[in-house]
Amino acid sequence: MRKVTVVGAGNVGATCASVLAHKDIVKEVVLVDIVGNLARGKALDMWQQAPIDNYSTFLQGSDNYEDTAGSDIVVITAGVPRKPGMSRDDLISTNAKIVNLVTESILKHSENPIIIVVSNPLDVMTLAAYRTSKLDSSRVFGMAGILDTARYRAFLAEALQISPKDIQAMLLGGHGDTMVPLPRYTTVSGIPVTELLDRATIDKIAERTKVGGGELVQLMGTSAWYAPGAAAAQMVESIVRDEHRIFPCCVLLNGQYGLNDIFLGVPVKLGKNGIEQIIELKLQPDEMKMLQESAGHVRQVIEVYNGMAL
Ligand code: NAI
Ligand code: 2OP
Repeated sequence: MRKVTVVGAGNVGATCASVLAHKDIVKEVVLVDIVGNLARGKALDMWQQAPIDNYSTFLQGSDNYEDTAGSDIVVITAGVPRKPGMSRDDLISTNAKIVNLVTESILKHSENPIIIVVSNPLDVMTLAAYRTSKLDSSRVFGMAGILDTARYRAFLAEALQISPKDIQAMLLGGHGDTMVPLPRYTTVSGIPVTELLDRATIDKIAERTKVGGGELVQLMGTSAWYAPGAAAAQMVESIVRDEHRIFPCCVLLNGQYGLNDIFLGVPVKLGKNGIEQIIELKLQPDEMKMLQESAGHVRQVIEVYNGMAL
């Protein structure tokens, strides 16, 4: 794979492009924004960083989709972020139009790309891109779970006074306050986290994780970008290198977890064909109940989307 397009040269898109360039795994990254000079300027700046940081990936900025022709992977970060007091769902009316327009424009110039959606509300924007693109569902999916588990892992590392590198964790559900962290599937170098921290501390960390995005919005007046951009780049890496890494990603469920026709975060195997496998965990009744509640919330937002005149 040679060419990756990142649409949206704002906070998340630019970070994703930069992290990707530093990985030095593709020939070219095209950064597209409706504000063409923003994309051109940031791409040029990042290309001028190449001799310093020693990467060869060429970066080009544009507002013309012809420049995205032949992209293997497209990351969609275009849209508005939330401000304090807003939920991710409040963004739907603006972002649905943008995501659909971007998806149509991409498909005019790239035949069968893999699309990674980042724009919020994530689960429904991924559905929007899937429906608009008419690509196979293995090629259209969303980034949220890597970010949410990273927050969970970072909080756990802090509580345990250890490196976050040694924490493995899994988290399911929609990218919202109903997401489902799974302490039963969380380990520290193989040791169940439940043996290292008491239940109350784990629960407190799980609750902080669920509102982790909101915590940052309160602090900064806009949503996060360093970890989100890096998370999207990590998904690109697993695809480009055909690594078959297991990550929670937002994917179309067709019967898995008893759910149908919904995009939701679950563990998947990510390789050169996109979603190579959806992994179905054997959930306990309370975990399944939380997942169903999360799905119920996403379905409410899907109803809003279905009712929109687009
Ligand atoms: P930002 O405002 O910094 O950047 C968004 C960019 O999109 C702007 O540069 C804007 O000009 C561009 N844009 C708007 N309409 C466009 C169009 N039609 N075509 C091309 N570009 C267009 O916002 P930020 O912080 O980068 O966030 C982007 C999106 O990602 C937001 O919807 C945010 O909620 C979401 N997000 C999702 C996360 C996740 O875990 N899935 C994490 C963080 C952010
Ligand atoms: C986040 O969780 C806003 O979805 C974004 O930071």
